[in-house]
Amino acid sequence: MLTRLLRQSEARVRYAAITGWGKCLPPAALTNHDLASFLDTSDEWIVSRTGIRERRISHVSLGDMAWVAAERALAAAGITGAQIELVVFGTCSHDDQVPNMASGVQARIGAERAAAMDVNTACTSFLHGLSTATALIRTGAVNSALVIGAELISPFMDWTDRNVAVLFGDGAAAVVLQATEREEGVLAEKLGCYGEAREILRVHGMGGAYANRGRVYGDTSWQFEGQEIFKRAVHGMSDASRCALEKLGLTSEQVDLVIPHQANLRIIESVAKHLRVPMERVFVNVHRYGNMSSATVPVALCEAIEEGRVRPGSLLLMPGFGGGLSYCAHVVRWGERVAPLGESKADLPPSDRSALQIVRDVMAVKGRAAAAAS
Ligand SMILES: CC(C)(COP(=O)(O)OP(=O)(O)OC[C@H]1O[C@@H](n2cnc3c(N)ncnc32)[C@H](O)[C@@H]1OP(=O)(O)O)[C@@H](O)C(=O)NCCC(=O)NCCS
Repeated sequence: MLTRLLRQSEARVRYAAITGWGKCLPPAALTNHDLASFLDTSDEWIVSRTGIRERRISHVSLGDMAWVAAERALAAAGITGAQIELVVFGTCSHDDQVPNMASGVQARIGAERAAAMDVNTACTSFLHGLSTATALIRTGAVNSALVIGAELISPFMDWTDRNVAVLFGDGAAAVVLQATEREEGVLAEKLGCYGEAREILRVHGMGGAYANRGRVYGDTSWQFEGQEIFKRAVHGMSDASRCALEKLGLTSEQVDLVIPHQANLRIIESVAKHLRVPMERVFVNVHRYGNMSSATVPVALCEAIEEGRVRPGSLLLMPGFGGGLSYCAHVVRWGERVAPLGESKADLPPSDRSALQIVRDVMAVKGRAAAAAS
């Protein structure tokens, strides 16, 4: 017994460093003016209430976007899929429920030895997946992991509802985690959920509960209390951030860069104010992509690295919020390397369809399916 305890205390602490990163944004951009061509809305309203100017609409499946992001992350880490022992796929907009999304990526990257799981906490799925993979590396269950945050929201959008149609977009990103003895990767996090308020964000038509009522899968209507979600988002992200930092005896002043969930510029500004972090130390790209749900934080991380905002040894804070109503915040210590080791040739197939055409096609298919079902 004593020998075992001594061995345990001698055992070195393992961390899960982020060693690779990659994003995949579909090329077709849907502008606020495009939206105003079929909805009673305006560029002025959308920009002033949300900060969003455009969002991407995908011409490919969720799995295709995630695979490209995964290959790019592996190349940046300088490893192959065969070296990955765990794939965690964070999403709430699955191509398929069975088989899961993670196994599709596992097969395409050749991660033959890997376990593969999906995580769904809506917009915080990537961050909850990051916690899952980090924990499994730290316990020694696996030595490496690929964590994906990817969403294909456009087919599930109610394009007749201006309250929600202007807010969301499609996209994907992934990171590679590898075991290390250096104090890197996620150092502390706070995960939580306001389950009692889950009804303020519900997408009717995205699950089995609707199948028996004759509803066409994906033909959605969104129950969405914007102002209440806004308040909970600000409190959830601010409280979780303070809690995660306190676990390490740190304050927000010591954070080099906040990379928050990108749902609304005003939510981000409110969280920054609550945390007393000036906006110069907050990364924002919501104007380019809107709310890509679980893809927002990993895409923002990739772009923060590309723009030189993440430096060797940076202390990063990543607060998130989503349906559930889930909330969380992660404190991440970046390693020495901020340049990718390699580049992948993986890319999406080209498409000449505009975002507006893709959206109009989605609306037409849904209209025909609903008419056939009634
Ligand atoms: C949705 C959100 C942008 C609305 O902003 P807001 O300032 O709270 O706006 P309000 O709810 O007060 O709506 C004001 C008016 O604008 C209207 N409106 C809503 N969407 C509109 C649009 N796209 N264009 C024009 N008008 C719109 C509303 O119908 C309402 O009109 P009314 O007063 O005549 O009823 C904001 O509440 C928000 O971002 N909430 C968080 C949502 C979110 O990010 N969820 C995902 C979490 S992961």
